[in-house]
Amino acid sequence: MGGIVDPFSPLVFRNGVEAPNRLVLAAMTNQQSHADGTLSDVERDWLVRRAAGGFGVVTTCASHVTKDGQGWPGELACFDAAHVPGLARLARDIAAHGALGLVQVFHGGLRADPTASGAAPWTAKVGPDVPGVEPGTREATGADITRVIEAFAAAAARCEQAGFGGVELHGAHGYLLTQFLSRFNTRDDGWGGDLEGRARLVREVTRAVRAAVSAGFVVGVRLSPEDFGNAAGLDLDESVQVARWLVEDGVDFVHLSLWDVHRNTTKRPQEHAVEVFRAALPPEVPILVAGKVWTRADVDAMLAKGAAGVAVARAAIGNPDLPALVREGAEPERPPFAPADLEAKAVSAPFVQYLRRWKGFIAD
Ligand SMILES: Cc1cc2nc3c(=O)[nH]c(=O)nc-3n(C[C@H](O)[C@H](O)[C@H](O)COP(=O)(O)O)c2cc1C
Repeated sequence: MGGIVDPFSPLVFRNGVEAPNRLVLAAMTNQQSHADGTLSDVERDWLVRRAAGGFGVVTTCASHVTKDGQGWPGELACFDAAHVPGLARLARDIAAHGALGLVQVFHGGLRADPTASGAAPWTAKVGPDVPGVEPGTREATGADITRVIEAFAAAAARCEQAGFGGVELHGAHGYLLTQFLSRFNTRDDGWGGDLEGRARLVREVTRAVRAAVSAGFVVGVRLSPEDFGNAAGLDLDESVQVARWLVEDGVDFVHLSLWDVHRNTTKRPQEHAVEVFRAALPPEVPILVAGKVWTRADVDAMLAKGAAGVAVARAAIGNPDLPALVREGAEPERPPFAPADLEAKAVSAPFVQYLRRWKGFIAD
């Protein structure tokens, strides 16, 4: 692709909104919010510290758009007017450092946690061959589908009202929107079956969100292009078609969650996902990419393939000033991290506890 792209040049979204640079703090669940989904001081501090560290875009954790979509205890919520004051404080404090704040809006579907959500999980399709379906999970009714589309739109409107720069629809990692996109969604009522049917929910959500916010509010989508972990029943070429449709429906960016940017696609090992999507989407739609980005070399490699923004999750936990390290070409600190070290980097005890799920991350 073209010349060398400077990571510290602005990231321009399709609607003309600019972030000051191309380094994106990826969405990270951290369980630091209050039980009712309102913002806590420690969740604020975790994100605002990374905005202060120079990230051009700062994304919140996956934030549930309905109570029954809640995936974890301590998750920041956006399903009620009561959440807006905390979101407004967070939006203001992120923006004060010059970063563009995004809320990642999501519904857990069959992966919602009933002990947190207080409701039985529901999904596109229930059956013995559908991965991840626990006893008690039910199939979505037409009313569930209508309600969740409206909930995504209302949540996005709340995020705009709170002063965020945009939202990222979580269409990746096997949550509700991926469950509908998956080939395991064999519904025969127009919301499953062929790709058009399976893509209908994420498309209608995108259109409803777009209609609920102003043109200057960034609306993007995160996708898993192929199967990985809990994302199952996906196909690279189908995902490209879904991205094309979502561009028609009005998204301002497409974020590819690859888990490892150093690998090419599974379906076509000679091709990298960023290049595949870049070739398929109009040039004015920026592509973001995430997965094992730690260093300047990793960032440059993704920009060279045609990514407009490079998202970082794990490296930003122990390195809140990662953008400065990238600028200098300096080495970031690597895991394992001691809890006290992380605490000094605005990572509080509940988040440290959650990070114990990532093998080797916390030094105990
Ligand atoms: C602690 C933790 C929490 C995460 N939570 C989310 C989340 O809420 N939403 C999401 O889309 N991805 C989530 N991810 C995935 C990251 O956004 C990212 O795609 C992945 O970790 C790979 O990037 P990395 O190698 O830079 O960590 C999470 C990752 C980690 C480590």
